[in-house]
Amino acid sequence: MSRLIGFGRLPRPFGLAVLLAVAALILAARPPFARALFEPGEERPGGAATALKARDSRAFTHPSAGMSLDRRLDFGLGDALFRKRWASSPSSTTASDGLGPLFNARACESCHRRDGRGQVPDPGAPAVSLVLRLGLPGGGAEPTYGHQLQNAAIQGFRPEGRLTLAYDEVPVALAGGEVASLRRPAYGVADLAQGPLAPDVQVSARIAPPMIGLGLLEAIPAADIVARADPDDADGDGISGRAQRLGPEARLGRFGWKAAQPDIAAQAADAFATDIGLSTPLIRRSRGDCTERQPACLAAPAGDDPAEGVEVTARMFDLTVFYARHLAVPARPAARDPEVLAGKALFLAAGCSACHVPAWVTGRDGVDPELAGQRIYPYTDLLLHDMGPGLADGKAEGEAAGAEWRTPPLWGIGLTAEVGGRTEFLHDGRARNLIEAILWHGGEAERARDAVIALSPAERARLITFLQSL
Ligand code: HEC
Ligand code: HEC
Repeated sequence: MSRLIGFGRLPRPFGLAVLLAVAALILAARPPFARALFEPGEERPGGAATALKARDSRAFTHPSAGMSLDRRLDFGLGDALFRKRWASSPSSTTASDGLGPLFNARACESCHRRDGRGQVPDPGAPAVSLVLRLGLPGGGAEPTYGHQLQNAAIQGFRPEGRLTLAYDEVPVALAGGEVASLRRPAYGVADLAQGPLAPDVQVSARIAPPMIGLGLLEAIPAADIVARADPDDADGDGISGRAQRLGPEARLGRFGWKAAQPDIAAQAADAFATDIGLSTPLIRRSRGDCTERQPACLAAPAGDDPAEGVEVTARMFDLTVFYARHLAVPARPAARDPEVLAGKALFLAAGCSACHVPAWVTGRDGVDPELAGQRIYPYTDLLLHDMGPGLADGKAEGEAAGAEWRTPPLWGIGLTAEVGGRTEFLHDGRARNLIEAILWHGGEAERARDAVIALSPAERARLITFLQSL
């Protein structure tokens, strides 16, 4: 023992006394709640599926732990499809064509870089992983441009237009003399190919979210999520939380910034159609987001597989979904660090966990073996919350109003810079760091935000240390 901790040269009894004294000092210096706060298992937020790999730029690219070799091979094939750069039709290989005619990117990976989140374009550069959703008040698509502004097109077609973005800085004073600055975005469109947008158009800028842990979120029993909803705030804590409901069967929504997709397959099919312009067994529209007011687009050649009549075959689609379901959540080696636990105590005390619910247990019915029955720590309730006018985009989606957003999971958030080279948070990437992300919280989260504003600078730093450890 003495050798292990480096007291090798001291006489034994003396070494032990020093060790005990140091241990007592450490225990006394630690906040009293720290030990009680640590939950065994927290260091593996994805349960047994957690990736026990280095927290480096590849931290989000690993498969669920515990996979058989066969399934790891499928994961590899799915990875290749996620990176695949689709080509326009006709091309020499029908297995890779069908792009567009209108699109935002040629590959899933172009937006979900290294399986992480998207980025806001640099001034003057074209937007790639920040897309502009379009819609009308009753929930329909914009009559000419459809559900999304496609800023790229195959040869012979004009991109629909381009997203323009300007920021305005708003200072916010924090306790202890610190001042933060929030950049408020203003979105516009330029170079529209077919005239102005509908006068009552609603727009929503969205950045690609990170891809980790999605299969685990999909495996949380719907009844458990709905049980936490409190639409009329019956418990009077100022936080309601509503379940997103979709389609005639009122399926629970889980994915996307407004939880507008019920599962990974639906979200992937929507991405193939809207972002890349490809048909799948779930959405058999080979011209993606073209509308009836875009007849040339609708008449463009498709890259349909001759046997299946879609561009992305059932096998290719299933592999892509399998891949997206199994991107593992990284381990948290610092989970029991005293500073981290002190930050966790502040997170709980500020009321963050009312929405960023720390722990869940995944179900077993129809769930892949690696993901079934796991205690996980995603820090989300997957419910919609009114986040106030500052974050509202005015675009309704399903049950979600313009000011409502789904609580995003926080697992892996501390690795954003490692994976993406920079940090941009919230649905449109407006927050440049974690403090800004918190300061944008309003509506149901106003009290939690104000609690953070009132913390001392040292306490705020601890809260951030905790978030960085996730
Ligand atoms: C042009 C950029 C872009 C491309 C290309 C793209 N995505 Fe996305 N992805 C997004 C955006 C933006 C969102 C958030 C959508 C929303 O809020 O409605 C998203 C959300 C998702 C989600 C939900 C994640 C969550 O936490 O809710 C999944 C799963 C996903 N994408 C998978 C894919 C797959 C699979 C592909 C390739 C077929 C793909 N994406 C291609 C931009 C993109
Ligand atoms: C009322 C529910 C609620 C409370 C309380 C709440 N949040 Fe959030 N949080 C959200 C929602 C919803 C979003 C997404 C908002 C958006 O993108 O516009 C979010 C986003 C975030 C993000 C950015 C996540 C990302 O992936 O970009 C961070 C970080 C965050 N919250 C931390 C906190 C902290 C820390 C607290 C406590 C001080 C807190 N939140 C309290 C609901 C809540």
